[in-house]
Amino acid sequence: MNILGISAGFHDAAATVISPDGEILFAGHAERYSKKKNDADFCQGLLDEVIEYGPATVAYYERPWAKQARQWYAGQGVEWDKLTTKQILRQQLGGQIEPERVYSYNHHLSHAAGGFQTSPFERATVVVIDAIGEWDTVSIWGATYDSNGQARYKRLWRQVYPHSIGLFYSAVTSRIGLHPLDEEYITMGMAGWGKNIWYHDMREHVIANERDIELQHNFHTGMSADFLVGASNENIAAAAQMVAEDLIRQVMIRARNFEFSSNLVYMGGVALNCSANRMLGEYFENIWIMPCPGDAGSSLGAAALALGSRINWTSASLGHDIPGPYPVNGLLDRLLTEQIVGVASGRAEFGPRALGNRSLLADPRGSEIKEKVNAIKRRQQFRPFAPVILEELADTYFDMPSGFSHSRYMQSVARCRVPELFPAIVHVDGTSRVQTVPRDGSGIRELLEKWYVMTGCPVLLNTSLNIRGEPMVNDRADADRFESLYGVKVCS
Ligand SMILES: [Fe+2]
Repeated sequence: MNILGISAGFHDAAATVISPDGEILFAGHAERYSKKKNDADFCQGLLDEVIEYGPATVAYYERPWAKQARQWYAGQGVEWDKLTTKQILRQQLGGQIEPERVYSYNHHLSHAAGGFQTSPFERATVVVIDAIGEWDTVSIWGATYDSNGQARYKRLWRQVYPHSIGLFYSAVTSRIGLHPLDEEYITMGMAGWGKNIWYHDMREHVIANERDIELQHNFHTGMSADFLVGASNENIAAAAQMVAEDLIRQVMIRARNFEFSSNLVYMGGVALNCSANRMLGEYFENIWIMPCPGDAGSSLGAAALALGSRINWTSASLGHDIPGPYPVNGLLDRLLTEQIVGVASGRAEFGPRALGNRSLLADPRGSEIKEKVNAIKRRQQFRPFAPVILEELADTYFDMPSGFSHSRYMQSVARCRVPELFPAIVHVDGTSRVQTVPRDGSGIRELLEKWYVMTGCPVLLNTSLNIRGEPMVNDRADADRFESLYGVKVCS
């Protein structure tokens, strides 16, 4: 019987279906079907996808009663209709799926399993850093497989609510006028534009005990409006990014000092901070971050725990399918004539990054392309786009971070060696969030190869294909809407 992993009820609802032999049959986000960003709940489109796979054992990504106890402690009140997994599943599945069996797991353990059981490692140190689930905010685990191939986890250390790096970062995101639990990536991008003036003030305001990740305040209630009055958003973001990196560094030092393994599996929403991830190679030799490390990815993590053994991870293309061959020639024609083209082909990416199946692609050369793409995306001009490059040429163009054997899921930034050639894909601090593409037979690989032959440039600009304010394009109907709104061809 298949296993259906579920994360839903709070934010970023998602579903993962895995087979009894560890194949991922489907993994998708509710928001892509409902068109509501960070949608907390299942919707009919997602249910329809999941029902296709038949009856299942259901695995839920956290322990509802423990979460409610923490919410009560935090003064948020108790949601009496979300006290048990059964209650939540009834709300989310609406009786359309009757689970054969139901399991629920600790929130951080689900994060850990989603990372370790998809990783290439037999043994790893697992670090989880997020905002908050039940009580844990930071946890460090030793993970191995036993002689029967069953994953075993030993928690080595934890920090608990309200001392939370993720809540601190979200409070800053809110303070500078962005949406918390959604736009932290914009805070990170904005940090590059700030001046290093408030770092010491921010440290003093935030950190009580750096080594043990104890904070001065409960940032769940936001950041005090009286702090750094008059400071620019960019300078606040810059200080916050530096303080967050100080705290993450302390967690990594502690994790390494357990000497459990030189392999690092890193999960939780904070693992999406690709600027901070540059440092990971200083502490660990090999690094794996599952491409969907936040709570949506814990639908996979909970399913992994119910399965028990290793999961066969092959790619992040796990969501809704737009069938047909990858439209390589159509894309190439448009890139050569119009510089910009959309693609919606194959299975949607699981995780926040478009990796070539739901992407807006462009010729990255020259000084005007950034404005052109920004005019379509209608986003802040300071934000650069990401490059996608033939993996074997990545070192020629970028100073790739240590510890990562590749950058196929855009999880760390790298210094660009030739920023003058590609201003659109280089941040103000000289870095780029690089996606490398191996010889994996994928459509985006074939496109890059042909693009390289025709232009001598092995790089394309890659940004997610989405209508302003909406999640990423999911199906062909979304792609059609994109075409008619923005006048840009989307090939399937
Ligand atoms: Fe989490």
